[in-house]
Amino acid sequence: MFLRRLLVPLVIILLSFSTCNGLRNPSRPCRQRASHTPSSLKMVDVEAFKGKGESDDTEAFERAWNKACSSGADVLVVPNKRVYHLKPIVFSGPCKSDLTMKIDGTIEASTDPSDYKEDERHWIRFENLQNFKVEGRGTINGNGQIWWAKSCKVNKNLPCREAPTALTFLECNNLMVSGITSKDAQQMHIIFQKCVNVRAFNLKVTAPERSPNTDGIHVTATQNIQISNSVVGTGDDCVSIVSGSKNVQVLDLTCGPGHGISIGSLGKGQSGAFVSDVLVNRAKLSGTTNGVRIKTWQGGSGYAKNIRFENIAMHNVENPLIIDQHYCDQEKPCRDQASAVQVENVVYQNITGTSASETAIRLDCSRGHPCQGILLQDIDLVGTSHGHAQASCVSASLSRRGRVSPSCP
Ligand SMILES: *[C@@H]1O[C@H](CO)[C@@H](O)[C@H](O)[C@H]1NC(C)=O
Repeated sequence: MFLRRLLVPLVIILLSFSTCNGLRNPSRPCRQRASHTPSSLKMVDVEAFKGKGESDDTEAFERAWNKACSSGADVLVVPNKRVYHLKPIVFSGPCKSDLTMKIDGTIEASTDPSDYKEDERHWIRFENLQNFKVEGRGTINGNGQIWWAKSCKVNKNLPCREAPTALTFLECNNLMVSGITSKDAQQMHIIFQKCVNVRAFNLKVTAPERSPNTDGIHVTATQNIQISNSVVGTGDDCVSIVSGSKNVQVLDLTCGPGHGISIGSLGKGQSGAFVSDVLVNRAKLSGTTNGVRIKTWQGGSGYAKNIRFENIAMHNVENPLIIDQHYCDQEKPCRDQASAVQVENVVYQNITGTSASETAIRLDCSRGHPCQGILLQDIDLVGTSHGHAQASCVSASLSRRGRVSPSCP
C-alpha cells in the first residue's frame, strides 16, 4: 500500500519529464508545442508504454489511454516519431478530467482480417467522453485496400458485407476534432454518432475515387455539430447526414472526388427518419457525382426539413442540385410505396458553376408526399464547356427569387 502510494506519483512525475517541456526543461525545447503548452499540463506519451520489439501497438495505446484517462492527465501524446500499428481499439470514458489526444504520428490499421473478428464494424472508437479533444497533424491510415477488394460494389460476385469505420465518436458531449488526416478508411472515415456539441475543423480525408462506401464525415443522431474548413476527397459522400441529426453546419468544405454532400439516405426499410436545421455554406465541389443531395427511400416516414445550401461553387459536378425520393441502393429494384420521408423548407441560394450532366437540377420528389417549400434563389449552372443545362422538377412545390438558371419548365 505504502509502496503504491509512493510509486504512482513517481511514475506520473517521470512521465511528465519524459515528454518534451520547453519551460521546465529548456535544454530539451519543445519544437511544436512550446508556445501553447504550459508546463502545468500533465502529459502521457504512448512511447513510454511501447514494449521492446513489439510490432503491434494496440496494448501500448490501451495502457497509455487507461493511464491518461484515469489519472486526470491533460494530454495523451502520439508523437511524430514513428508509424504505430493498431488493431481494433476502444478508447472509452468517462475520464477523470478533460482530455486531449494529440496525434502527430501516423497510425495504421492492422491488415489481418482475423483481428476484426469480434467487431467488423469499427476500427478506432472513442466512446462516452465529455470535453474531449483530438488534435494534431497526424494521419490515421485504415489500409482499406483489403476491404475494398472484398466489397460487393467492387466484385459483384461477392455477398454484401460491412467493413470497419476508421474513426467512430460515439456518445461524446462537447467534442473537438481538428487537424488530423484520415486516409484510406476500410469503409467510412469518420462517424459522429449520438454526440452533442461537436466542432470538427481542419480535417483532411483522402481515399481513391473508386474506394467503395468510404464516406468522409458521417453524422448520425448527432446534434449541434459544426464541420468547417475541411477537405474531403473520397469514393462516397464527402459529408453524409442521417437520421436523428439536428443543427448541423457544414462550412467551407472542399469536396472531390466523391459523391458530394448528402442528407440521407433516409427512410430505408420503412424506417422513420428525422433530420432538421442543416446549413451548408461556402462549399466547393469538383468532379463529384453529386453536389448537394437529399436522398430518401420509398416507404419511409418522418422528415428532412429546414435545410439551406448557400454560396456553393460547382465544378464539373454530375448532379449539382438533387432531391431523390426514389433512392434505391440495392440489387433488387425497389417497389413503389405510398409513404415517404417529407422533404420540407429547402433553400438553394447562390449556387454557381458547371454541371457534368445535362440535368443540373433534379428534384424528383414523392408523388404521395411532394416536396414543400423549396426555394431556388440566384442559381447559375451551365453545362461543362458552356453546354446546355436543364432542370427537371417532379412533385415539388417551389418558388424562385433572383436569376435561376436552368429553370424548371
Ligand atoms: C456567392 O457564392 C460565391 C462562392 O461560390 C461567393 O464567392 C460569392 O461572394 C457569393 N455571392 C454573394 C452575393 O454572396
